[in-house]
Amino acid sequence: NKGKYEHYMQKEIHEQPESLTTTMRGRLIRGGSCKSKSVLLGGLKDHLKIIRRSRRIVFIGCGTSYNAALAARPILEELSGIPVAMEIASDLLDRQGPIYREDTTVFVSQSGETADTLRALEYALENGALCVGITNTVGSAIARNTHCGVHINAGCEIGVASTKAYTSQIVVMAMLALAIGDDTISSQARREAIIDGLFDLPSKVKEVLKLDQEMNDLAKLLIAEQSLLVFGRGYNYATALEGALKVKEVALMHSEGILAGEMKHGPLALVDENLPIVVVATRDACFSKQQSVIQQLHARKGRLIVMCTKGDAASVCVSGSCRIIEVPQVEDCLQPLLAYHLTVLRGHNVDQPRNLAKSYTSK
Ligand code: UD1
Ligand code: BG6
Repeated sequence: NKGKYEHYMQKEIHEQPESLTTTMRGRLIRGGSCKSKSVLLGGLKDHLKIIRRSRRIVFIGCGTSYNAALAARPILEELSGIPVAMEIASDLLDRQGPIYREDTTVFVSQSGETADTLRALEYALENGALCVGITNTVGSAIARNTHCGVHINAGCEIGVASTKAYTSQIVVMAMLALAIGDDTISSQARREAIIDGLFDLPSKVKEVLKLDQEMNDLAKLLIAEQSLLVFGRGYNYATALEGALKVKEVALMHSEGILAGEMKHGPLALVDENLPIVVVATRDACFSKQQSVIQQLHARKGRLIVMCTKGDAASVCVSGSCRIIEVPQVEDCLQPLLAYHLTVLRGHNVDQPRNLAKSYTSK
C-alpha cells in the first residue's frame, strides 16, 4: 500500500525516520554507570572477539549495498584499527581474489539473495573465513548461510532502487564499528559522540526530508541535461557513487560519482559552463580540501550545486554563484546519511527502472 505516495520509492524515502529507528531499536544503550553508552548487536556478541583478532575485514556486496559498505569503511577502520578491504562480489569471483582463514568477510545485501553475493559467500566459506551477514531479509540465503550477522530491520523494501535499506545498512555498519571498538578506552568519547549522533539521526533525517520542494525545483532544472557529475571524498565518497547510481537507474540520465581527490587526474577535462556538477562539502576532515576543489571547478566556470552543512554557504561558495543546498550538522561519519537524500529526494520516483530487477538471483 503506497498510502499518500505515488511510488513505493517515494514512500520508502519518507519512511526513513521510522526505519532508522527500528534498525537501532534495542541495540543502542544509553545509561548505566561505568559504561554509559554502548551498542549491543545480539547476532554478533559471541563473535566479536574473533572479529577483533582478524587480520582484515572484507566487505562484499553489489550495487547500493556495496556503496553502503563503502560509506561505513572509514569509521570501521578508525574504530577497529583493522584494515578494511572492499570487494564487489562479481569482481572477487572473477579474480578468485585471496580470502584467508584470518579474514572476517562481511556480506551486505538487502534481499539476502543476490546471486553474485551468495556465490562470493560460498567462496569465502570454502576458504575458511568468518562470514558475517548484514541483511534485511530474515530467512534469506545469505542470512541462513553466514556464521552470524545482523538484520537491518528496515522493513520490506519494494522500490527496485534501494533507499531506506541503504541508510539502515550504514547505521548497522556504524554500530558494528562501535561494537568492535568497544574495548578501546582511547576512542570512548568519539564512540559516545557517535551514539548520541545516532539517537538524533531520525529527527535530522526528518529535517532533510522537508527539503523535498527545493529538491523538486532542482530536479526540474536538471531534467533536460545529458549528464551529471557528483564529487565527494572521505565519508562522502560513497555518497557521490550512490547519488550517481540513483540518477542513472531511476532518472535514466548519465551520471558519475567521482572521488574528488582524483579530479585532476582526468575528470577536470570535462568541466565547462554547461555540465552540472554536484559537490558534497559537508563539515568533516576533508572540508578544506573540498573548498579548494570548488575553487578549481569554479575557475573553470563549472556549473556547481554544492551540498554543505547549514551556515556554510559563504565559506563553500565565495563567488556566490553556486546553487547551495544545506543539511543539518551531524557527527562526521553519519553525514552521508543526510547528504545522500539530496541526491535522491525528488523528481525521480520510479519503482521499476527499465532493465533492472529488485534482486538478481541468477546469472
Ligand atoms: C533477535 C531477534 C529479534 C528479537 C531480539 C531480542 C530474529 C530474527 N531476531 O534480534 O526478533 O527481538 O533477538 O533479543 O529472531 N544472522 C546471520 N546472518 C545474517 C543476519 C543474522 O547469521 O545475515 C543471525 C545472527 O547472528 C543471529 C540471528 O541471525 O543469531 C538473528 O539476528 P538479529 O535479528 O540481527 O539479532 P537480534 O538483533 O539479537
Ligand atoms: C540490484 C538492485 O539489482 O541489486 C540494487 O537494483 C541493489 O538496488 C543490488 O543494490 C544489490 O541487491 P541486494 O539485495 O544484494 O542488496
